Amino acid sequence: MDVSGLVDTATGRQSRAIYSSEELYRQELERIFGRCWLFLVHTSQIPEAGDYFRTFMGEDDVIVIRQKDGTIKAFLNSCTHRGNRICRSDRGNAKAFTCNYHGWSFAPDGSLSAVPLEKEAYFGELDRSRLGLVPVAHVAEYKGLVFGCFDADPPSLEDYLGDAKFFLDVWLDAMPGGTSLVGETQKMVLASNWKLPVENVCGDGYHLGWAHAGAMRAVQSLDLAGLSVGNSSTDLDGGLSVAGLNGHMALTSLDGVSGYAFYPKPKPMLDYLEFNRPQVIERLGKVRGEQLWGSQINITIFPNLQFLPGLNWFRVYHPKGPGQIEQWTWAMVENDMPAEIQAAILDNQCLTFGLAGLFDNDDGDNLAACTEQSRGWRTAQMDVFTNMALNRSGPREGFPGDIAAGLVSEHNQRYFYRRWQEHMQADNWAGVPTYNINSVVAEETIDA
Ligand code: FES
Ligand SMILES: [Fe+2]
Repeated sequence: MDVSGLVDTATGRQSRAIYSSEELYRQELERIFGRCWLFLVHTSQIPEAGDYFRTFMGEDDVIVIRQKDGTIKAFLNSCTHRGNRICRSDRGNAKAFTCNYHGWSFAPDGSLSAVPLEKEAYFGELDRSRLGLVPVAHVAEYKGLVFGCFDADPPSLEDYLGDAKFFLDVWLDAMPGGTSLVGETQKMVLASNWKLPVENVCGDGYHLGWAHAGAMRAVQSLDLAGLSVGNSSTDLDGGLSVAGLNGHMALTSLDGVSGYAFYPKPKPMLDYLEFNRPQVIERLGKVRGEQLWGSQINITIFPNLQFLPGLNWFRVYHPKGPGQIEQWTWAMVENDMPAEIQAAILDNQCLTFGLAGLFDNDDGDNLAACTEQSRGWRTAQMDVFTNMALNRSGPREGFPGDIAAGLVSEHNQRYFYRRWQEHMQADNWAGVPTYNINSVVAEETIDA
């Protein structure tokens, strides 16, 4: 389906049909979720051989398994006999995956290892070598984050992430011990189109002082770029909206501490930041060590991975039709953090952006209602707008990307819908443009 008229990046207009059309949704499964690198698992979640973790790539159910040699493989969670789900638990350790229906058994490397009555019922004519689990075409890791890709010929994961690595490393590589996801997967079903929470977190600082005003009053302990008491006090110098990173985005404050703005007792975290900042500056350079590490940063990896260093939540959105998602959230910690800080992070993540989190409930209601208001015969013909601060972006020294000043802008959302449109229009990766605008990665990095 031609989507050229459904999104106009130049004016910041989107048709509401993109949130409700079943036809467009099927096209998204093919051209976005079937083509892009998608987050599968953090290496900390499957440390040992035989450890597995079940997730989704689009609507495809996938098992990610640590192999004997330490590598990670992923397979469709579907029996090659008659299609049944072969793994029904969320995670664990297994020597084999045996299908509930007729008992075919698959080894962790995906091979079909046993078939009941193979000789008697198949007369020895079954070619087991052709009936292994279907592998995900590509699996690759970036500093603990494991991604999979169904496309036969995608860009490398490194190239796909591009300059977004500048921001990813503020969390993944600030401290030598790396990171872990802690706690179990917090799953929430929400009656929202998948694009709405992604564009909310990727760039919508606008709603923060309004939709979350009550929550912020209840838990905020530090100022967040002037957003603490409503939109009227917004400080455009207090943050950046960064896009133009191959479809990825960052929304960041620049004070080096406000990631901990929503902690009832931020002092232990602030002490941790202060104590370790010199070595982070050494690893990542001054811009990131002083201005970004410890700041509130919303990082979006297109299409459906988001994490917020500072608030320390990590989330993927699994689409379940045009009007529904499963939102999976974890708390993310640096392994060098003392245990009591890690525990406080998990607590605070649940308090703010968890199943009963103050902020998540504000957002969920708005996102579900925006989705519902795109489903009617008449409303589906209407448009919505992300036209704030049009044509007010540019480079900024020390940072990659096309940057608009401030946390309150719709700059990032326009880039998100631009990327969506680029993928939806392209037949394959060759038709998808690559852009790392104002690339500066490396100058100050340890791995330059
Ligand atoms: S469907 Fe799995 S063994 Fe038959
Ligand atoms: Fe929100």
